[in-house]
Amino acid sequence: MASIDYEPKLVAILSIPFFLSCIFVSTTGLLESEGKALLESGWWSDYSDLTSNRCNWPGIVCDRAGSITEISPPPESLKVGNKFGKMNFSCFPNLVRLDLANHDLNGSTPPQISILPHLRYLDLSSNNLTGELPSSLGNLTQLVELDISSNDFTITIPPELSNLKNLVTLKLSYNSFSGPIPSALCHLGNLTHLQMDHNALEGALPTEIGNMKNLESLDGSYNRLNGSIPLEIGNLKNLEVVDLSSNIIAGSIPSTLGLLTNLITVKFFGNQINGPIPLEIGHLTNLQYLDLGGNKITGLIPFSLGNLTKLRTLQLSRNQFNGSIPLGVFP
Ligand SMILES: *[C@@H]1O[C@H](CO)[C@@H](O)[C@H](O)[C@H]1NC(C)=O
Ligand SMILES: *[C@@H]1O[C@H](CO)[C@@H](O)[C@H](O)[C@H]1NC(C)=O
Ligand SMILES: *[C@@H]1O[C@H](CO)[C@@H](O)[C@H](O)[C@H]1NC(C)=O
Ligand SMILES: *[C@@H]1O[C@H](CO)[C@@H](O)[C@H](O)[C@H]1NC(C)=O
Ligand SMILES: *[C@@H]1O[C@H](CO)[C@@H](O)[C@H](O)[C@H]1NC(C)=O
Ligand SMILES: *[C@@H]1O[C@H](CO)[C@@H](O)[C@H](O)[C@H]1NC(C)=O
Ligand SMILES: *[C@@H]1O[C@H](CO)[C@@H](O)[C@H](O)[C@H]1NC(C)=O
Ligand SMILES: *[C@@H]1O[C@H](CO)[C@@H](O)[C@H](O)[C@H]1NC(C)=O
Repeated sequence: MASIDYEPKLVAILSIPFFLSCIFVSTTGLLESEGKALLESGWWSDYSDLTSNRCNWPGIVCDRAGSITEISPPPESLKVGNKFGKMNFSCFPNLVRLDLANHDLNGSTPPQISILPHLRYLDLSSNNLTGELPSSLGNLTQLVELDISSNDFTITIPPELSNLKNLVTLKLSYNSFSGPIPSALCHLGNLTHLQMDHNALEGALPTEIGNMKNLESLDGSYNRLNGSIPLEIGNLKNLEVVDLSSNIIAGSIPSTLGLLTNLITVKFFGNQINGPIPLEIGHLTNLQYLDLGGNKITGLIPFSLGNLTKLRTLQLSRNQFNGSIPLGVFP
């Protein structure tokens, strides 16, 4: 039964030219090569060297044929540490999930992780990885989730990430990425969560951002973004959370923000935003949190704020408003 289940996958493997270096003439050959790669990685060296039992090793999940689909070693009991590059990633054609969060990984990222044709979930967060994010990650076209937050990646966000058409979640937070946000990223039409906060990103938010129609959360806070908030933000009808605080964004708040009636949280504090608050803010009837503090916003505080009956936090301090707070804003 197991071999019947396996057969179609093997055909798929052999049709990928990349794997010509790792030719599996039989299911047994594939399984042996997976076991050998696990053993030689040394990741489980303190635990076991009995590869016949590898499907029961901590953090290993196999399919019915015994081929490995998940590698998620529990960081509480074993740390991969500086052995990240010792795994021969070309031996896991069926791997779907690789989770190495909190593993004390350091140094650069082995580009070989880009040779995992079925990988859907890659989590390298909370490590000490440095240097450039390999542009070859753009080859992992089945990825649904990519989390590399809390490392020390530098240089720019590789535009090749825009090849990851199935991506739903992209977390790049807490690194040292600099340069602009590649506008190509905005072609990721399935992207729902985009976190780029706490980096050193520069330039303006691309106007193409309006293409990401599925976006529900956008976090670009704590960077060096400038320019103004693009009008096209008004296309992101599913947006619930937007945080652009602590940048050097200027210009005024576009009235198109009022089209985003699913918004729950808006944080624009600590920028150079000027002009008045658009009256259309009153359309955001689901808004619970609005922080516009520490900007250069002028004019009167609009009456329409009184429409926001779900608002629990309103922060407008350190701006240049004139006139008084209108009656009815704080029921
Ligand atoms: C990785 O595995 C393949 C197939 O078993 C082998 O051809 C290749 O030499 C291995 N690479 C390393 C660096 O061990
Ligand atoms: C990772 O970096 C942090 C801060 O730079 C440091 O405190 C920690 O010791 C490093 N960990 C490893 C495993 O290198
Ligand atoms: C990674 O950390 C180990 C100690 O855990 C250290 O010996 C090694 O030099 C580090 N490698 C890099 C590239 O920083
Ligand atoms: C993987 O990515 C690299 C760099 O982006 C590229 O040169 C290479 O052709 C890609 N390989 C495959 C199999 O797509
Ligand atoms: C979204 O993902 C589906 C597959 O899940 C894919 O067919 C489609 O092309 C993607 N959409 C965009 C806009 O990239
Ligand atoms: C925004 O920052 C970029 C990169 O630092 C710079 O080239 C550009 O002139 C700045 N634009 C504005 C409007 O300040
Ligand atoms: C107040 O909210 C309602 C929807 O609940 C909307 O129709 C109306 O235009 C809003 N008023 C203002 C001043 O924005
Ligand atoms: C408030 O500021 C606006 C624009 O800066 C100005 O037109 C208006 O006269 C000011 N009103 C008061 C009461 O100062």
